[in-house]
Amino acid sequence: MNIAGLLSNPDFKEKHILQKLIMEYTECSREEMWINWDIEISQDIYDKIIRGYKLSTEEKMPLDYVLWHVSFFGKEFIVNENTLVPRPETEYMVQAVTEHIQYSKSSNLSNPSNLSNPSNNLILMDIGTGCWVLWTSVLLQNPEQISTVFFTDISDKALLVAKQNVDKHLQWFKQEMIFIWTDLLAFVDNYKEVWQDKSIVLVANLPYIPEQMFDQNSPENVQKREPRLAFVWGEDWLVYYRQMLDQMPEAMKKTTICFFEMMTRQVEILAKEYQKDRHFEEVKTFHFNIRIVKATYRN
Ligand SMILES: C[S@@+](CC[C@H](N)C(=O)[O-])C[C@H]1O[C@@H](n2cnc3c(N)ncnc32)[C@H](O)[C@@H]1O
Repeated sequence: MNIAGLLSNPDFKEKHILQKLIMEYTECSREEMWINWDIEISQDIYDKIIRGYKLSTEEKMPLDYVLWHVSFFGKEFIVNENTLVPRPETEYMVQAVTEHIQYSKSSNLSNPSNLSNPSNNLILMDIGTGCWVLWTSVLLQNPEQISTVFFTDISDKALLVAKQNVDKHLQWFKQEMIFIWTDLLAFVDNYKEVWQDKSIVLVANLPYIPEQMFDQNSPENVQKREPRLAFVWGEDWLVYYRQMLDQMPEAMKKTTICFFEMMTRQVEILAKEYQKDRHFEEVKTFHFNIRIVKATYRN
């Protein structure tokens, strides 16, 4: 069997899935696949392609799980069924955080009175890290500004995947990397000496989808295969963000800038509830219903 024979086989209706599997297992680019359409595929590779196709189309496994990797912000990350497949909207979070870090850096440089508090000593906290695409991408772009990174998740299995991604992408990085299995900010008191009096950037893309909406609207492969824990939490979809903001110690509130991902209609609710403490600003919009929000402390 050659590539052309496989691609033109009418039994395989999901051509984009078939093409991705061919590219993956024959280790070729899209262009090479078309140029080499008459090349024979070995039985071993053919079997892998067919198995992957069935897993994806019949057993509803997202293709990224079949392939064990996903592309995010220009890099390949390991994923498996213990981590949510990172979504394109979360790339906007990377952009928002990077813009913030770069802006802080340039304003520090242009204002000599700020130089005693340089922005190259930032602490990053990723609450609900999943496979850790967020901070890897931020770190890769801002290596000089960051001193310590906390990766936290309530899923120990997700943290194992995060660790693999850190080893893959950041093995040469000198920053202190701390992995913590924890419920939201339950860990912070134990790490006071690390974060106290430092500037902290906290990102959280916590489960924010109402349970009923998830059950009614999300695709079958998401419901069947991705970890429910990563999407929903009970009836009240802002519970996580509230809990986290309420857990934050006073000393940390003042030095922490938060970036959250949530649905458009949730922003106003949270901003109103926390207006005494925090100023909420929508910094990125994905389609019409997802926002990246920056929450800064009100002095
Ligand atoms: C929407 S996923 C986000 C994953 C990743 N940060 C991203 O943006 O692609 C939410 C993550 O929060 C984690 N999580 C759920 N409840 C948590 C809790 N109480 N404390 C810490 N992490 C939690 C889930 O295990 C999951 O990895």
